[in-house]
Amino acid sequence: MNTGKITTGPFPDGRRNLYRILAILVFVLCIAGALSVPFYFETQTLWYKMGSDKTMLRTGQLAGMLALVFLFVQITLALRSRFLERLFTAASLLRWHRINGLFIGLLAVSHVLLVLVPEGLSNLPFGKKHWPEMVGMLLFSILLPMIAASHFRQKLKLDYHRWKAVHRVLGYLVVLLVTIHALYVSESFEHESLQIALLALFGALLVQVVIVKRLFDASSGQRTNGHSG
Ligand code: HEM
Repeated sequence: MNTGKITTGPFPDGRRNLYRILAILVFVLCIAGALSVPFYFETQTLWYKMGSDKTMLRTGQLAGMLALVFLFVQITLALRSRFLERLFTAASLLRWHRINGLFIGLLAVSHVLLVLVPEGLSNLPFGKKHWPEMVGMLLFSILLPMIAASHFRQKLKLDYHRWKAVHRVLGYLVVLLVTIHALYVSESFEHESLQIALLALFGALLVQVVIVKRLFDASSGQRTNGHSG
C-alpha cells in the first residue's frame, strides 16, 4: 500500500516550491498552447459551419486537444519519476493519475460527439479515405474500456498483475494512436510548426519512458509500490 511518503530526501523547501511552480507552469502552458490551436490554426471545416454547428465543432476540437495533452500528462504521472515523486509525493501522483483518467474519458466522449454531430450522424467517416478518423475510432474503442476497467477493476475482479500489464501496453498504444490521429486527421496539423511541436512532445515522452524505466529497473528494490493488488 502506498504511504505517500517521499521516497528519497526532500528538496530544501524553497527549491521544492520553485520546482513545483515551474512544473505547474509547464502544465498550464501546455494546456494554453493546446487550446489556442483551433483558434490560431483554424481549419477549413470551421469555415463552412455556422451557428451552433460551428460552436460544437470548435468545442470538439478543443476537447480533442485537451484530451491529447491529458494523455501525455497521464503517462508522465504513471511513470512516477523520482523527481515528480519528491516534488508532489507518490500518493498525489497516483490520485491525479486516477482523476486525470476520468477527465480523459469525458473529453474523448465530448470530442467524438461534438465533432461527429455537426457532420451528421448518418454520415460517419468509414472507409479507406477516412483512415485517420478510423484511427480515432480505434483509439476511442480502446480508451473507454481501459478507463472503465481501471475504475471498476476490483468490482470486475480483474487480476491486478494481469490488468496492470495490459493497462501499461494500452497506455503507450493510445498515446501513439492519438499522435497519429491528430497529425493526419486535422488540417491544423498540416502546419509544419505544429507537427514539429507534437513530434517533439512525443519524443520527449519517449525519452522520459526510456530514462525513467531504466532508473526504475535499476532501483526497483528501493521504491515503494504505488498500487495495491
Ligand atoms: C470515434 C472516434 C473519433 C473520431 C471519428 C474523430 C474525428 C476527428 C475529426 C474529424 C477531427 C478533425 C476535426 C476538424 O479538423 O474539424 C479530429 C481531430 C482531433 N481528434 Fe479526434 N476523433 C475520434 C476520437 C478521438 C479521441 C478518442 C481523441 C483523444 C483522446 C481524439 C483527439 C483528437 C485531436 C487531438 C484532434 C486535433 C484537434 C482538432 O483539430 O480537432 N480524437 N478528430
